[in-house]
Amino acid sequence: MKSLKYKSGVLKLIDQTKLPEKLEYIECSTYKDVGRAITGMVVRGAPLIGVCAAYGISIGAAAFKTSAIKSSSNKTISDEFSSKEEFFDNLRQICVFFKSTRPTAVNLFWSVDRIYGIAVSNKAKSINEIKDIILKEAQTIESEDISTNRAIGKNGDALIRQDSTILTHCNTGSLATCAYGTALGVIRSAHESGKNINVIVDETRPYLQGSRLTAWELKQDNIPFKLICDNMSGHFMRLGKIDCVIVGADRIASNGDTANKIGTYALAVLAHENNIPFYVAAPTSTIDFTIENGDAITIEERDSKEITHIKNLPIAPEGIDVLNPAFDMTPNRYISAIITEKGVTYPPFDKNLGKLI
Ligand code: MRU
Repeated sequence: MKSLKYKSGVLKLIDQTKLPEKLEYIECSTYKDVGRAITGMVVRGAPLIGVCAAYGISIGAAAFKTSAIKSSSNKTISDEFSSKEEFFDNLRQICVFFKSTRPTAVNLFWSVDRIYGIAVSNKAKSINEIKDIILKEAQTIESEDISTNRAIGKNGDALIRQDSTILTHCNTGSLATCAYGTALGVIRSAHESGKNINVIVDETRPYLQGSRLTAWELKQDNIPFKLICDNMSGHFMRLGKIDCVIVGADRIASNGDTANKIGTYALAVLAHENNIPFYVAAPTSTIDFTIENGDAITIEERDSKEITHIKNLPIAPEGIDVLNPAFDMTPNRYISAIITEKGVTYPPFDKNLGKLI
């Protein structure tokens, strides 16, 4: 299953806010539509928002028109120069716009910088050529994401034993990427390689990515799973019912500290207490080598209504104070291994992560 499709200036996205009840698509034909899809959680998941931003920039760049382009027969060299400057001013504004959509997942920033970088390095070309180059780069980022996830799956599969019960958190599957997934890609790969696995899915309060999205994906693939509430995981770990935990990541610092969906830190501490391996599966584009440790990661604070309401129905008294951090940071000491497309890395991460690039 593919979470997005791009064709002729239109980005078609599965509307994840409607799942699991309805499988519906929305069409984005302006860059602002794509931005709204990211902020409105129509699309989410670190790799997917990066790819959507890349296509969004391409759509925004393609819409750029100047009088010099419109009447190319009359254009002068100075017209061309000012148009190019205007084009790049516009491109920069679009990039800034996408960087403001969500703060934690580094893939968004990585993708925007990659698109802007390729445009700048081709500045000598015509505006139409640069537009084409931007689109091709977005398509490359999309196809790389799929092959990267396959490689993460294969590398992670080597860590999964026959007859394992694997606990996972949030959604890290096809709906969080372009296809296949990261942590869920490892689970898919273990299932495809014939291992008899069972998955325990955390519902992932408050946004319920586990129950709404991961359960939906696993059901489609006929991978055996059971859904639990987040506060049940410690119980099952203590009873010896969990063989390993696999989660994704939104940003990994150079020392391995990992920001991921709220609740991940508690899972990692519980796994450590119960001697259960705790794996993080993510593409190398999720590693932020510009930061030394996880304290530098901005944690997104989301709308209190995600906690006080379910489908617009109040489940808490009106007017109360709420805290709603969307992510937390797991210190590297709780992580047994980080699975990437380039291989599996073990502690000490501050020494070993750098060897991946
Ligand atoms: O708020 P979300 O749904 O975008 O959060 C997603 C997660 O935390 C995922 O675990 C993470 O992005 C890894 S996805 C491959």
